[in-house]
Amino acid sequence: MKNLTLDNITAAAVDSFAGLPDARRRELVQVLVRHLHDYAREVRLSHAEWRAALGFLHRVGDISTPERSEFSLLSDVTGLSSQVDLLWSQAGATPGSNLGPFHAAGSPWRDNPADLIGDNAGTRVLLRSRVLDMQGQPLAGAEVDFWQNAADGLYWQQDPRQPTDNLRCRLRTAADGSFEIATIRPVPYQIPTDGPAYLELVQPAGRGSWRPAHYHLIVSMPGHRTLVTEVFDAEDTYLERDAVFGVREALVGRYADEHDPAAAQRLGLPGPTVPVMRMDFRLAQA
Ligand SMILES: [Fe+2]
Repeated sequence: MKNLTLDNITAAAVDSFAGLPDARRRELVQVLVRHLHDYAREVRLSHAEWRAALGFLHRVGDISTPERSEFSLLSDVTGLSSQVDLLWSQAGATPGSNLGPFHAAGSPWRDNPADLIGDNAGTRVLLRSRVLDMQGQPLAGAEVDFWQNAADGLYWQQDPRQPTDNLRCRLRTAADGSFEIATIRPVPYQIPTDGPAYLELVQPAGRGSWRPAHYHLIVSMPGHRTLVTEVFDAEDTYLERDAVFGVREALVGRYADEHDPAAAQRLGLPGPTVPVMRMDFRLAQA
């Protein structure tokens, strides 16, 4: 008979997973079990607290659907998603940031420069960017997957009034690594406020539900690490208190009026200037 005590229960539980055949999976599970035990010891977890925590996870599962993962939101609002993004961001390369729940595969291809404005209300702007390697050399033919919300704060999947694929596209960078997207200025929006992640954790802590306005991008190029990131607006009021910890200084851009009568005309602007955000993306080697 093995006499399990406070002194050997953790080792027994960790060792019980030694038979997992995949080494990495074994490490992930064993270290998780060790940290769970350490946590319970550190806070002297009571039975009532343990049951409450399980009930909370139950509610997180109950409200989740294929379209709405409360577990992803829980990961976001506890900073775990951003922790993983930052772990895989390499010094000198553009840092990663939240993928978020509104990316979908199969975004339509557009020519570069692209114009996504269509019938959208909102402030018409240009995003002018380059994709570069770590030496600052342009990466021609890099794939850019871009998506953002509309003037009502919603992504097209959330809003039946928006046309399919509104404000999203894929395109390839030009020979000089550049790409340009005519679009509308994104607006701040709230994380879901009807589930346990917000109602039981974020709100009681006195935290807000808002995310500062942002573009989402996935930039990929063979031989380089794929970059999943966001670009924020320097003038946004929520920049200091993003509900999901996505803001990094290197990802904050500012719109500046540029004298460009041709672009102004294309965008249907009255004067000779266009609000332009310039943001380059630097990819690490694979
Ligand atoms: Fe977003």
